[in-house]
Amino acid sequence: MRYAENDQMPSTGRAPLRDLAQAQHKLIGSAVDTSVLASDAAYRAVLAREFSSVTPENVMKWQLVEPQRGVFDYTAADSLVQFAREHDQVVRGHTLVWHNQVPRWLTEAAFTTPELADILHEHILQEVAHFRGNINAWDVVNEPVNDDGTWRDTIWLRALGPDYVGLAFRWAQAADPQAWLYLNDFNVESIGPKSDAMYALVQDLLARGTPVHGVGLQAHLAIELEFPSTLRQNLERFAALGVHVAITEADVRIPLPPTPAKLAIQAEYFARLLQACLEVRQCVSFTVWGFTDAHSWVPRAFAGQGAGTPFDEQLQPKPAYVALSVVLRATVSP
Ligand code: XIL
Repeated sequence: MRYAENDQMPSTGRAPLRDLAQAQHKLIGSAVDTSVLASDAAYRAVLAREFSSVTPENVMKWQLVEPQRGVFDYTAADSLVQFAREHDQVVRGHTLVWHNQVPRWLTEAAFTTPELADILHEHILQEVAHFRGNINAWDVVNEPVNDDGTWRDTIWLRALGPDYVGLAFRWAQAADPQAWLYLNDFNVESIGPKSDAMYALVQDLLARGTPVHGVGLQAHLAIELEFPSTLRQNLERFAALGVHVAITEADVRIPLPPTPAKLAIQAEYFARLLQACLEVRQCVSFTVWGFTDAHSWVPRAFAGQGAGTPFDEQLQPKPAYVALSVVLRATVSP
């Protein structure tokens, strides 16, 4: 059963995105705020109706899962896994190794290199094992590269050098041999210095026999920036390495307030993003980073901007929603 009896469902007058996506052999997902999930029936209803994949927006991150060393709290994340099971959705695990949202006990103590290696190993092992069998794909390493293509300076790079990436993938695979394991980053939608570095990294990992199975392109876009027009070629070159690709965190922010003209550009950006994924067989999923403007990180992260998702603050579908729906109907994917 897809909906709880008392969940209200705004009517869109259209087939749910998940049904349209399924016909194209794609997953369509959203990031989920688990506190809203717990409190808002209308939010639950739209999530269940429209999406076949869910990603915890925060609650699988290190800071929330292991707030003290060796003390794990999976309560919120487990609630999402449960919701996904009840609504026949897959879960994208997000994320194991990142420089943000890490607990203080980890960043503020002066651990030695062997200690940090041990801490990272233990964290990955514990968390991946906890969710084993319930995770379709893990964002194992998030945002390892700078915009100029150099390595991002993180505690992991400092302690372990670039090898931390390969180690993380091996440890994740040992803990859950079934999950698809992804590298994930932003500003890698176009061909350029950053995506070139990601490409070289994936090539190198594969050459070493590392179990990397996918590349996630976050796709946090803005109507005031040019659309990444080399997106499809970029997806294709990664796919040609033998890995899956996915759009993992799509949103299209607009300078507030939204106007019909701005919403129309936004709709076109969403459509082009999804279209590129549909045109590449190895692009397995398309995830929006929150489906409603009522609960989106955009206004908090980008001053003066917002309204970046396909549903408005009243959970009504925006032109972007209609555009996604139209693309899913019109395209015959390979
Ligand atoms: C963001 C969340 O949306 C916010 O709620 C949180 O305060 C910060 O992190 N790239 C990622 C995501 O991989 O995890 C980030 O999510 C957005 C950028």
